[in-house]
Amino acid sequence: MALQLWSTLKEAIVVYTGLSPTTFFTVLAILFALYYIVTSLFGSNDTHQRHGTSRDFDAQMEPLKPPVQIGEVTEEELKEYDGNNPEKPLLMAIKGQIYDVSQSRMFYGPGGPYALFAGKDASRALAKMSFEEKDLTGDISGLGPFELEALQDWEYKFMGKYVKVGTIKTTVPVTEPESTGEPSESTSRDVDASNPNENNHEAEASKPHENTPSETETAAVKSDETPSNVDADKE
Ligand code: HEM
Repeated sequence: MALQLWSTLKEAIVVYTGLSPTTFFTVLAILFALYYIVTSLFGSNDTHQRHGTSRDFDAQMEPLKPPVQIGEVTEEELKEYDGNNPEKPLLMAIKGQIYDVSQSRMFYGPGGPYALFAGKDASRALAKMSFEEKDLTGDISGLGPFELEALQDWEYKFMGKYVKVGTIKTTVPVTEPESTGEPSESTSRDVDASNPNENNHEAEASKPHENTPSETETAAVKSDETPSNVDADKE
């Protein structure tokens, strides 16, 4: 019965396609292989693209939640906002100021090139353009003028691009040694929640006033004043 079916099929193939059954099945296999390659290249369907990454994919597809102020948190608490919990925003800090970087999940989210900065104050790493573990800290003591300037540029970039959502309660000094003219001290520096920028007054004495936006400002507002205006002021 099966043999009969097979020979009928072979005959039908020869009659309808003009190809021998061997050639016909070879062509069919090549067409399937091509289809598979093309669909995986252009990512047009679920089966090829989403293996192992479906969680990240889903997270990227979800609409961004508006930034929420988290106020004053410790470095330990900030670690929970490293993008591994999709329910929580993706946060990163520079000079003790925490920014919501959820919109740049491709940079800072799990698997991203800068994921190591997420949930941390990455001031030292950014100042030194370093990815080393020991530099993943908000401690900027002992940095040179070029490194501090690089850090300042990063801060302007973040102020303009992201919404500031809080400050780090820390014992690590974040004062810029240069601007005070004194060596940095490792005394406790708790940030006043009612006025988080107050503690930076000394450190930021050299910076124009408009670079210390209030908690409630949006990224859009900030981008009006930084960094171009500030750079102009500096010159
Ligand atoms: C070979 C060296 C590097 C290359 C080619 C590179 C390239 C890039 C590119 C193309 C972007 C995207 C820019 C944008 O679209 O706004 C970017 C962003 C970024 N880079 Fe690098 N980068 C390099 C090294 C570094 C290093 C050493 C650091 C710090 C330690 C760093 C920190 C960052 C950060 C924080 C962002 C994201 C800024 C944001 O949130 O908008 N990069 N980089």
